[in-house]
Amino acid sequence: MKAVVVGSGGREHALAHVLGRDADVVVTPGNPGIPNSTPIGPEELDADLFVVGPEGPLVDGLADRLRAHGKLVFGPGADGARLEGSKAWMKEVLADAGVPTARHRSFTELAPALAYLDTMGDMFVVKTDGLAAGKGVVVTTDRTEAEDAVGRYLSGEAFGDAGRCCVIEEGLTGPELSVLAVCDGARALALSPAQDFKRIGEHDTGPNTGGMGAYSPVPSVGSDMVGEVMSSGVEPTLAALRSRGIDYRGVLYAGLMLTPDGPKMLEYNVRFGDPEAQVVLPQLTSDLGSLLAGAASGRLVGETTFSGHWTTVVCASEGYPSAPRTGDVIAGIDAARAHDGVTVFCAGVGQNEAGELTTAGGRVLAVTARGDSLARSRARAYGAVAEISWPGRYVRTDIAELAAEQEGRS
Ligand code: AMP
Ligand code: GLY
Repeated sequence: MKAVVVGSGGREHALAHVLGRDADVVVTPGNPGIPNSTPIGPEELDADLFVVGPEGPLVDGLADRLRAHGKLVFGPGADGARLEGSKAWMKEVLADAGVPTARHRSFTELAPALAYLDTMGDMFVVKTDGLAAGKGVVVTTDRTEAEDAVGRYLSGEAFGDAGRCCVIEEGLTGPELSVLAVCDGARALALSPAQDFKRIGEHDTGPNTGGMGAYSPVPSVGSDMVGEVMSSGVEPTLAALRSRGIDYRGVLYAGLMLTPDGPKMLEYNVRFGDPEAQVVLPQLTSDLGSLLAGAASGRLVGETTFSGHWTTVVCASEGYPSAPRTGDVIAGIDAARAHDGVTVFCAGVGQNEAGELTTAGGRVLAVTARGDSLARSRARAYGAVAEISWPGRYVRTDIAELAAEQEGRS
């Protein structure tokens, strides 16, 4: 099989790496750290399967344009991608499908939005309706901060048009869970569950990021919980999309909070999570290419099998997420890769004139390790991270820490 992966981050490197076990893979545009990257655009390339990584091109209708040219594409059309492109619309679909979620309302005017804050408890959650690279969500107990976010979103000051409509919702508490389901329009198949670390600081402090690390599977989440997420969340959502005439072929990424009242849907993404993909995809022992090609052609068949425990730790630039410093030479990737069970995925990576890899974004590398336990994979990942350096390199040191401790006690 010949496959094209569209995108340029750590998720796309992981997709290419795992597809590459059985397929010839080209990544467009990729980056200097991803093998077989090409500047030739996807519409100029030919392949048996196209996998579109990021949400931006999906929301812009790239999957539709490729399909219109007869290509087999894994990734929803612009109609389905709206689930991620508009949180207000996503909430409407959830309501139609009867999927439990936080109490919420959407606003375009300041006065009713501020009045709605009065109906909230101790926690305020304010989200941009549109895409904001994982940074458009404020979760706070400080009313003034919430009001400030509403004002800056609705005025367009903070995120331009993406924030001119915003969603205000009640704050939920509980562990978070990511369930990535491969969908063929009618059926959905869950991959191994993962947990992501969204905040920049240790112990979940500071601003939200795209994700600072992840692990999978999640020791406290059994197949019964994944089954419940599928039957009460993903499957009714797919049915609600179908009833709107949307043939959703791609990943439905359910971002959930496991509240004391049961799992509640925080968000849907229409693509693989980043960095969840870096721990979920390598875990597959069955063929990823035939799974995605089956879904893309509306015939999801076969079994998926997984093995091992996986941890990924993101190495970020100083200043991420607000103002990442870039252009530094990255040292130690080969030494990290020489560690047992370790793979290094390149995300915000560029190259200087001397051919050395340099930092070119906020999240630079995702260092992934496999182990026969979560504790072992975690230790391996951090062992390899210690090989990697550049000025101001930042990592969270608590990725998978709690879960590995719990695993030791169970
Ligand atoms: P989202 O982009 O909607 O997933 O939000 C990003 C992050 O904000 C989530 O992963 C949660 O950590 C947090 N978050 C979102 N919605 C809520 C909520 N209703 N209550 C508490 N935290 C939330
Ligand atoms: N890791 C969170 C996301 O991909 O949205």
